Amino acid sequence: MNSKPGQNLLGSLRVAIIGVGLIGGSLAKALRQSGSVARVVGYARRKSVAERALQLGVVDEYSTDLTTVVAGADLVVIATPVLSTRSILEHIKPALAAHTIVTDVGSAKGVVVEACEQVFGRVPAKFVLGHPIAGSERSGVEAADAGLFNEHKVILTPLADSDAHAVAVVTDMWRAVGAEVLEMDVAHHDQVLASTSHLPHLLAYSLVDTLAHQDANQDIFRYAAGGFRDFTRIASSDPTMWHDIMLANHTAVLASLDQFQADLGRLREALEQKDSQQLMGVFSRAKAARDHFIKRLDSSSYMNAEVTGEVTFEAMGGGPLAGQLRVPGDKSISHRSIMLGAIAEGITEIEGFLEGEDSLATLQAFRDMGVVIEGPQDGRVLVHGVGLHGLQAPVDSVYLGNSGTSMRLLAGLLSAQSFAVELTGDDSLSGRPMERVAKPLRSMGAQIESRDGKPPLGLAGGSALTGIEYELPVASAQIKSSILLAGLYAQGETCVIEDAPTRDHTERMLRGFSYPVTSTEISSVQRRICLSGGGVLKATQIDVPADISSAAFFMVAASITPGSDIVLEHVGVNPTRIGVINILRAMGGDLTLVNEREAGGEPVADIRVRYAPLKGIDIPVDQVPLAIDEFPVLFVAAACAEGVTRLTDAAELRVKESDRIQVMADGLITLGVTAQPTDDGIVIQQSTIGEGSVASHGDHRIAMAFAVASLRATGPIEISDCANVATSFPNFIGLAAKVGLTINIKQQ
Ligand code: S3P
Repeated sequence: MNSKPGQNLLGSLRVAIIGVGLIGGSLAKALRQSGSVARVVGYARRKSVAERALQLGVVDEYSTDLTTVVAGADLVVIATPVLSTRSILEHIKPALAAHTIVTDVGSAKGVVVEACEQVFGRVPAKFVLGHPIAGSERSGVEAADAGLFNEHKVILTPLADSDAHAVAVVTDMWRAVGAEVLEMDVAHHDQVLASTSHLPHLLAYSLVDTLAHQDANQDIFRYAAGGFRDFTRIASSDPTMWHDIMLANHTAVLASLDQFQADLGRLREALEQKDSQQLMGVFSRAKAARDHFIKRLDSSSYMNAEVTGEVTFEAMGGGPLAGQLRVPGDKSISHRSIMLGAIAEGITEIEGFLEGEDSLATLQAFRDMGVVIEGPQDGRVLVHGVGLHGLQAPVDSVYLGNSGTSMRLLAGLLSAQSFAVELTGDDSLSGRPMERVAKPLRSMGAQIESRDGKPPLGLAGGSALTGIEYELPVASAQIKSSILLAGLYAQGETCVIEDAPTRDHTERMLRGFSYPVTSTEISSVQRRICLSGGGVLKATQIDVPADISSAAFFMVAASITPGSDIVLEHVGVNPTRIGVINILRAMGGDLTLVNEREAGGEPVADIRVRYAPLKGIDIPVDQVPLAIDEFPVLFVAAACAEGVTRLTDAAELRVKESDRIQVMADGLITLGVTAQPTDDGIVIQQSTIGEGSVASHGDHRIAMAFAVASLRATGPIEISDCANVATSFPNFIGLAAKVGLTINIKQQ
């Protein structure tokens, strides 16, 4: 631990630790072992404890006199039970030097603010309130453990007038013992900790106490196995400490307890009524939430970026690409499998479900509306359908993350429900156009509010819908699907006319759920798709093929890297999605479809891709809707293709997760490629791709496209803001490495 960041600020400090129990003792021991401070002096009320601390190497020296310990200290850490803070402060006040910094480790912070106000009239600027989120059921100096804080979080709750230097010193002290330091305000800290720590301790103590009272307690404890042990471990914690914490944070703990009691009451009722639906609902939601939480804690991949912050890819290139790979399940089909499964009658079994953030957002939305969903487990999901009218009002607004498809399709499906609901999303989604669905839905009778045409969307619910005939103003499967889903609930027939073919997964899947949908050709490109409201969806089995939009990155990667030869397995090759294959072939790409078959109503094939020199083309406009998500990586192919490639009639790209025309043009130009964005497309000339840093603007497909570009670049390409790759392609880096493209992750 020699070069920990804290050394500059800490090196010459004399640190006094008041209380050398589990937390104070562990901190003292860790600071000594890190060598990051000059001296650690301990205080304990009882001499035997203080002496033991010395014997165990916890402190350099000790005193049982508070004034002596504090007088010579530069940094004082109060690590006694939280309700004793006030009396400690009263004792040390006269001995504190002007420069001395004070911090504490209390699990409740509001009460420490009050103690300061009582003793000093205010929280002194050099008192930085803190709380390490680490501990053990063990207590006392014997339990002191120098590794206790390593890779744990410490929350500081500085106030507006806290001394910046003092905050920096306390931050560095925690970093020196391996902790990650976060800041929060006092009230928020107390609320969060009431739910995540204080309530669980209260429950553990209470359960053990209840069981210990029962007559058969001998038997209970004799036979108590894993479940009891896991659930109640924390009931062995120090009672004084927890007594203090509960009283110190009693308002927030009571609020949390009341909420828990209400939920427990409902669960009791469900058990009494033998309500399987309710029991499965609670259990499967809880399992999903805990699994997600554990994954985020364990994962070092970009999947946990929300917790750890910004993710940068360093794409190192590589190749030639070789081997077989199956990319994750199709995103569009995964969304729809949950939506239709939820409103069907019976249990729908899904295989190959995409466990990416976008489709998981859809899954969570339906859980929030009372649908029992088991999984996903290795791509397998069971949806317990509730029928067209069985969805329940969610408790809160429904958060859809980065997923435009979820929001637009749900706008249609939910505008016909009896309850009101608000749909929200992340920053990128909150900037995307929603009037394109809101307008036709309003003409069916839906009541929808948006914020200047963008999310959040407020759906009033309780509207009776009537079928419409609607000609799509833009070639968009999302608009088509949104209207058709609303049409399931509408009086009469709902028809959508499309002037260019867009992906038809909704129509295919509805038929798979035994719901009649007609699709008639009006002309060679125009189609009318119709359904009538009021039918029933019957649960089915769905095999989600690998996503052609994810496979596209490897199609381009192999096409541009000399010597490459790969096979992409079980890829969905629905005719409304194969623009990328058609365009690459037109550019001279060597792609062969083998083993063509049908899986669950969708055509699939294995695709062999070999390197081939590419040439620039004018991309046929009829291919644009069929390759709408694949253009970022096709632009990389264009940069490697002899001559010039021109894209027109693709203005839709400007309103995807980012403005994909501008963002790709900016990145390509940074790397030395000659690229000229236009209103509705781009012109790209063959160029040498240089090394450099580009911005993905949080757009998953831009991030992956530039990673592919590194295969032909003169050096590494650094790509910022890549956390959202997990929205569509959770194991992109692993699969890329498997076939020969190396990408390193840098996390800040
Ligand atoms: C999608 C349709 C496309 C596509 C999006 C998914 C779908 O959007 O870009 O990633 O699942 O229906 P538009 O239909 O709006 O072009």
